Amino acid sequence: MPLLLGWMQEAKTTEPGWAAALATASTDGRPSVRMILVKEVTARGVIFYSDAGSRKGAELRLNPWAAICLHWPALGRQLRVEGLARRLPAAKVDSYFHSRPRASQLAAAVSHQSRPAPSRPQMEAWVDRMAVELQGAEVPRPRRWAGYHLECEVVEFWREGPGRLHHRVEFRRVGALWRVRELQP
Ligand SMILES: Cc1cc2nc3c(=O)[nH]c(=O)nc-3n(C[C@H](O)[C@H](O)[C@H](O)COP(=O)(O)O)c2cc1C
Repeated sequence: MPLLLGWMQEAKTTEPGWAAALATASTDGRPSVRMILVKEVTARGVIFYSDAGSRKGAELRLNPWAAICLHWPALGRQLRVEGLARRLPAAKVDSYFHSRPRASQLAAAVSHQSRPAPSRPQMEAWVDRMAVELQGAEVPRPRRWAGYHLECEVVEFWREGPGRLHHRVEFRRVGALWRVRELQP
């Protein structure tokens, strides 16, 4: 985990944010993938936020196994993490939600992510109406707006090597220990 944190911190010097592809799968094994932002690295995994009612949220509720992949071209690195995504406690999600720009909070509050959308003006009207109704008061976090802690079971560190002889080191959790092995590129 210190190595993972080290890579994430180094990437901050070359990348604007920790954008990652997040893969989830339905219970019948059908995968889907989309970009998310990793917001925090903990001693056990990584944290991201999303709408629990979205497609990914619905998939994670029934099948919490997920994977993320980060690619940092300037560093010639790829980082892969697999594990179980568990929902964060409400207090932590509240505090992150309210740290976001007000416009983002309003958009999250009116939007039911992944549902079919009405017209653009209609959605803008939802935001405007909520802003007026709140009269500057705190935007209530919708209960569906969630945080997830993806606890690492498998982590792979990939570094570009000369002549495509890349370096791959995989850490696989086995109880309280990690099995470490190098993989062929
Ligand atoms: C760079 C980038 C970062 C994103 N970060 C997030 C995020 O942190 N959380 C989120 O819910 N959606 C994020 N999105 C939007 C998702 O890619 C996606 O459109 C949305 O979550 C709906 O996905 P779903 O319908 O598969 O659940 C991001 C998109 C991009 C391009």
